[in-house]
Amino acid sequence: MNRVELGDSIELIKNVEDESVHLIISDIPYGINYEAWDVIHKNTNCGLLGKSPAQEKSGNIFKSRGKPLNGWSQADKNIPLEYYEWCKRWSGDWYRVLKPGASCFVFAGRRLAHRCICALEDEGFIFKDMLAWEKDSAAYRAQRVSCVFDRRNDEENSKRWEGWKIGNLRPLFEPVLWFMKPYPQGSTLTDNILKFNLGAFNEWKLKEMTELNDGLEKCSNILKVRTQKSDRGLHPTQKAVRLMEILISMVTIEGQVVMDPFCGCGTTLVAAKNLNREYIGFEINQEYYKSIIQRLES
Ligand SMILES: C[S@@+](CC[C@H](N)C(=O)[O-])C[C@H]1O[C@@H](n2cnc3c(N)ncnc32)[C@H](O)[C@@H]1O
Repeated sequence: MNRVELGDSIELIKNVEDESVHLIISDIPYGINYEAWDVIHKNTNCGLLGKSPAQEKSGNIFKSRGKPLNGWSQADKNIPLEYYEWCKRWSGDWYRVLKPGASCFVFAGRRLAHRCICALEDEGFIFKDMLAWEKDSAAYRAQRVSCVFDRRNDEENSKRWEGWKIGNLRPLFEPVLWFMKPYPQGSTLTDNILKFNLGAFNEWKLKEMTELNDGLEKCSNILKVRTQKSDRGLHPTQKAVRLMEILISMVTIEGQVVMDPFCGCGTTLVAAKNLNREYIGFEINQEYYKSIIQRLES
């Protein structure tokens, strides 16, 4: 069953059998122009893709702008809808390949996650919960308003706006959207658990695997997982293997099939392999694909 394929998952998933997968975990493109693969829209205004001098000075940690250069054009405003339409291009096949009662965890980014939720819900998925992955650190930018006025030699406004910033707060959590494919009409969740071994979650495993949950009563939908050194360097948005292991252990048992259609350098697949689950992965970028193969072989 184990397979990793290079190419467009929107096409490749069509070759996956109906109801053959027990879990999808995917860190999908967030549609925030982080890298070329993250540009989902057809916005030719491209204000969002420009660079500011502050970004260049910061060593390009942020490869694109968070706001258009000259106000919000209609094309900028259409981006969320285009993201929804892009999610609709694959959500039907995700639904088709999953078994009844199977879970689907999606890392979708705070800004456009709601569009992804609607796309999957419109396909028939149940949106169960939004978990929070609490990270130990996160890069962010928020420009000081006073600096902007300093550059304009506007001392009065620079003083007046001291302490104010443009941008967002430090993003210390990432949402993990938890969906379930409903079990068929006429059956119950218990029937489904017996038939497919799917539909429940393993609280004991969650307790065992989460760092700060030191008692069952503290198990919650906030997953505090540190990124290790080995979780860095292969992909610009590489996730922690431990986090994927926790999610996999929560809702599957050994031998079940885990799929990641946007697998980057293969973190989900590595976690699945570590836990004796079968895996299916797709990645469109050749370099990342090579990393997956190397990681799985090592
Ligand atoms: C957010 S990253 C995933 C990173 C991953 N969680 C990791 O730890 O490496 C999303 C990945 O999806 C890939 N991608 C984008 N569109 C794709 C498509 N249509 N088919 C397959 N892969 C795609 C990108 O190349 C990128 O590597």
